[in-house]
Amino acid sequence: YFYSQVVIWEKFSNQSPFQRKVYHYGTFSHGFAWGVSSSAYQIEGGWNADGKGPSVWDTFTQKPGSIPANANGDVACDSYHRLEEDLYMLRALRVKSYKFSLSWSRIFPDGRLTSLNQNGVDYYNRLIDGLLAYNITPMVTLYHWDLPQALQVLGGWENVEMINIFNDYSDFCFATFGDRVKFWMTFNQPHTINPGIAPYRVAHNLIKAHAKVYHTYDDKYRTSQSGLVSIALNADWIEPIDVNVAREVEAADRALQFQLGWFAHPIFKNGDYPDAMKWHVGNKSDLQGLSETRLPLFSDEEKTSIKGTADMFCVNHYTTKIVRYVTAQLTPQSYEYDRDLTEADETDSPTTAIPNQRAVAWGLRRLLNWIKEEYGDPEIYITENGVATESKTTWDDYERVFYFKTYIDEALKAHDLDGVKIKGYIATSLMDSFEWLNGYQVGFGLHHVDFTNPNRPRTAKYSTHFYYQVIKDNGFPI
Ligand code: NOJ
Repeated sequence: YFYSQVVIWEKFSNQSPFQRKVYHYGTFSHGFAWGVSSSAYQIEGGWNADGKGPSVWDTFTQKPGSIPANANGDVACDSYHRLEEDLYMLRALRVKSYKFSLSWSRIFPDGRLTSLNQNGVDYYNRLIDGLLAYNITPMVTLYHWDLPQALQVLGGWENVEMINIFNDYSDFCFATFGDRVKFWMTFNQPHTINPGIAPYRVAHNLIKAHAKVYHTYDDKYRTSQSGLVSIALNADWIEPIDVNVAREVEAADRALQFQLGWFAHPIFKNGDYPDAMKWHVGNKSDLQGLSETRLPLFSDEEKTSIKGTADMFCVNHYTTKIVRYVTAQLTPQSYEYDRDLTEADETDSPTTAIPNQRAVAWGLRRLLNWIKEEYGDPEIYITENGVATESKTTWDDYERVFYFKTYIDEALKAHDLDGVKIKGYIATSLMDSFEWLNGYQVGFGLHHVDFTNPNRPRTAKYSTHFYYQVIKDNGFPI
């Protein structure tokens, strides 16, 4: 079956299966990192196979009522047992890069170095070697939300001890895989790990853990391995309700600071939180009744060690929101209250299978320009971008083709017209998979997976044909 797919794609190589009309024609620079993404819990399954320990996502989803239809990742796409099929899809698409994550509790069942599970190491060695054999660059996320359950028992990321424990695990991964892995991300979307107001202290630990791991790489591995280390931050574009009203423009900027800036400002700017956050929450008291303020302080020494701990800017982007400045009527215990604004959907754009994630392509170009200006023109990788369709969509995913076409076109405008240094684009995702709180009801995949079939067959959707052509052309040449 997979061989016949390649034949189909080869046939299309001189002609696009789709109307190629776009607004801006152009190509990205040589060596552009075209790729697709996944994450361990979403695809691997084998939740207790060959010595793997449980993660917080196993525990959470196995509790009835947590996820629609009581879905969980026990089997998911069964990638733990179907590695060759995944590699085959990646090769057929001719991607240059593959963003995936390591399951910490597959390598260390209880999270600690003493519990090493060699079967887990073997699995990732096979994956990495398989990718390299096809000339695909592994882009490895150390932590994509699946904390070993044994560490949650210690309080998880609220416990400062996690900084050292995560550093030990990361150190091991650099030592074990770093001869072949040259593109590392510590955390995926820390803002998602940690939304809202209560966990300002969790974010504080995540930022310190990231910096510590970056320095471990610098001190022990950079000379011999010469790879890149960063963190994948998520950002919506935030558009003010009225661009002619100063306080509305400020509110939109503030919303970006509270989402992207929360992590990017310390790491890419000065080692500390954005001013907008310090002004708005630095004087609000801690929700858990401690005498501290909600937003913790970094010491001068910590600021110095956090500043500059990323070799490139990795951003995950999906949609655009509209914000409005407001102070009255907000509940004091809310994230809106901390930011003095409310957030709404951009209702002029098409909805998707996740209703609050509208397809607003122009937001990507504005976001990229905002990052360029705010963080001193860094090299940017779009490390996730994609759209959900209903999981019953098997191959006719026109919405996904539309989404990729319009978003990639906006990225090209940012690259060609605005001079943003975009080095890569990772489409979310390789295949339909366990979509967190949505279970299997929606899928982001370029490939459909039949979750009712124990063999979990993968089928290319229309969007694979489209994306194959974009990769081959390195954009939309005239
Ligand atoms: C971002 C997450 O990193 C990824 O795991 C998820 O599938 C997508 N968002 C889509 O919701």
